Amino acid sequence: MRTMSNGADDHKLRVSKIHNGTVIDHVHGGQALNVLAILGIDGSEGEEVSVGMNVPSDRLARKDIVKVEGRELSQDEVDVLSLIAPDATINIVREYEVVEKSRVDRPDVVEGVLSCPNPGCITTGDEPVDSRFEVLSDGVRCSYCGTIVREEIASLIET
Ligand code: CTP
Ligand code: ZN
Repeated sequence: MRTMSNGADDHKLRVSKIHNGTVIDHVHGGQALNVLAILGIDGSEGEEVSVGMNVPSDRLARKDIVKVEGRELSQDEVDVLSLIAPDATINIVREYEVVEKSRVDRPDVVEGVLSCPNPGCITTGDEPVDSRFEVLSDGVRCSYCGTIVREEIASLIET
C-alpha cells in the first residue's frame, strides 16, 4: 500500500520497516538503551534490533524508537517499560503490517522486577522477600522501606 502523508514524512524513516516483531515507538529521547536493558537485549544473542535516538516527533520533542525483529513483548515487559517510557506505543508487526497498536499502561504496583536500592531493606537481605514497588506519577516507592526512586529506575531492574 502506498500512502501519501504530509510530505515531510518521506524524509523521516530512519530505520527500515520490520517483517515480524515489535516496534516500541514514542519513547522519550534518551531512553532507548534503557528499553533494551529492560528487554534484556544486548545483541549477544544475535537479536535483530534497530534503534533510532533523538529523532524528531510530532508528539514528543524528540523521541527514541526501538524495533525488535522476531519478538512480541509480554505484558510484564510492557508494564516495566511503562515506567521509563510512559508515552510509548507498542506496535505488533506481522508480515510488515501493524496488526496491533497499544499505549503502555502504568501498573499500580510492580512486583519482583525492580530491586530496592536501600541496602537495609528487607527485600535486599537474605530473606526470601520479593521486591514490591508502588508506581507513583513521578517514580516508584518500595512498599517495604518507603524508599522513593524517581530517576534511573532502569538501573533497579533485577537481572
Ligand atoms: N513500522 C515498522 N515496520 C513495519 C510497520 C511499521 O518499523 N513493518 C513502524 C513505523 O515506522 C512506525 C511504527 O512502526 O514507527 C508504527 O507504524 P504505523 O502505525 O504505520 O505508523 P503511525 O501511524 O505513524 O503510528 P502512530 O500513529 O502510532 O504514530
Ligand atoms: Zn526497600
